[in-house]
Amino acid sequence: MAKQGRRCRNLVLVPCPFQGHINPMLQLGTLLHSRGFPITIAHAQFNSPQTSNHPEFFFQSLPDGISSKPDMPREFLVFLSSLNFNCRAPFQEFLSQMIEIQKQQDQQPCIIYDALMYFAETVASHLKLPSIILQTGSVASILTYFAYPRLRGEGYIPPQDCDSTELVPGLHPLRFKDLPSNTFDDLDDTLQLIDTLSNIGSSSAIIWNTVDYLEQSSLVQYQQKFRVPNFSIGPMNKIASASSSSLPEEDSSCISWLDKRGPNSVIYVSFGSIASVDAKALTEMAWGLANSKQPFLWVLRPDTVHGAEPIDWWLPEDFRETVGERGCIVNWAPQQEVLAHGAVGGFWSHCGWNSTIESISEGVPMICRPCFGDQKVNTRYIGHIWRTGFELENDLERGKIERAIKRLMVEKEGEEMRQKAAELKEKTEISIKKGGSSYNSLNKLVEHIMSV
Ligand code: UDX
Repeated sequence: MAKQGRRCRNLVLVPCPFQGHINPMLQLGTLLHSRGFPITIAHAQFNSPQTSNHPEFFFQSLPDGISSKPDMPREFLVFLSSLNFNCRAPFQEFLSQMIEIQKQQDQQPCIIYDALMYFAETVASHLKLPSIILQTGSVASILTYFAYPRLRGEGYIPPQDCDSTELVPGLHPLRFKDLPSNTFDDLDDTLQLIDTLSNIGSSSAIIWNTVDYLEQSSLVQYQQKFRVPNFSIGPMNKIASASSSSLPEEDSSCISWLDKRGPNSVIYVSFGSIASVDAKALTEMAWGLANSKQPFLWVLRPDTVHGAEPIDWWLPEDFRETVGERGCIVNWAPQQEVLAHGAVGGFWSHCGWNSTIESISEGVPMICRPCFGDQKVNTRYIGHIWRTGFELENDLERGKIERAIKRLMVEKEGEEMRQKAAELKEKTEISIKKGGSSYNSLNKLVEHIMSV
């Protein structure tokens, strides 16, 4: 993207330190840098971004007091709370210094923070600096969380049966089983976080990594709740020609493996950066993939299964020999490149929002196997609204997995989903071109940043 004239306003971006949040924030940084804004990334020490991949940004590390990786999703709320508490003072100190330096040039920075890093708003508001929120999930999933207080008041949550397929009142098309909480055991803590996030304080706008046509009605509902400008500028992975913001090293050998496969023949399997499975599920996945007879590219992170053993320890003994060249297993893939590859005809995903929007923007249909949180909402939208995939329900069993893979990769139903996915890809491409909704939103965002 051609760099436009240099703008004086410095932007301080505050990502939440998980891969699924770092990616959209650094993509946003790349986009705004290409519009002439100097960018500083103020990041936690935990999961610190690879600064050498981004010589165009300044980086400011914030001491976060985090000593170990949280067990996700169980420890997420506690982790988030200490992160917000610990980063606040160092962020304030850093910004105060920045303000002093910039005062001499008659400038004032603007803060753009991940909604989950709400300490940034507290500090911005204290220092009288403008701030803007980046929501990294889908609008539908955030609205679902914001409906919790009402659902609790009306007695619908916690539900008697978390797996109920009855529709949730006021949240069409979601069923109780699609609600982001798996158990509702931590409902009080969740409600407290929702309360914190519902108060956007002095933030002047909200940025979304989504496309208007995908989430029109959710965006309208959101706008009614928060009467500040909303900018849907996604999918950012397609607009920001960013250098990689991967925390682990990408194994690009899978691209040369893909080069040798036929068009739409490969199923790509990845559960994002956090989700894990138990040892039994991993065995069933392995045999399901083997028995499907389809070529597959499988991302098996070293921590896909809880435990210290290397991943091969968990795989069936003769699995690698059985599948031979038909299967490619990597620790971490260059996912966007993989999804854009002509050999990839399907994506078995946990349906994190980044994976979902990346798949939609490349026209790849999906098998959805959500693990927790917003992934369940995204799954319902993929299967029921956008119709570019279907959910793999219940326990993972090799027979069901084999059937699901064949359904997506070789049967007529899968072909129809592929067709639908191709249509969404085309619409998405129109949205990001000159005159399209995301293109226009980005221009308006730039004007907004200059005006606040
Ligand atoms: C988390 C949550 O789980 C998700 O539901 C939420 O929407 C964002 O935060 P994560 O589980 O990691 O994210 O999933 P996802 O949102 O899909 O993000 C993963 C990112 O890692 C994607 O951008 C994907 O392209 C990238 N990735 C994943 C790789 O680059 N290589 C891989 O091998 C796997």
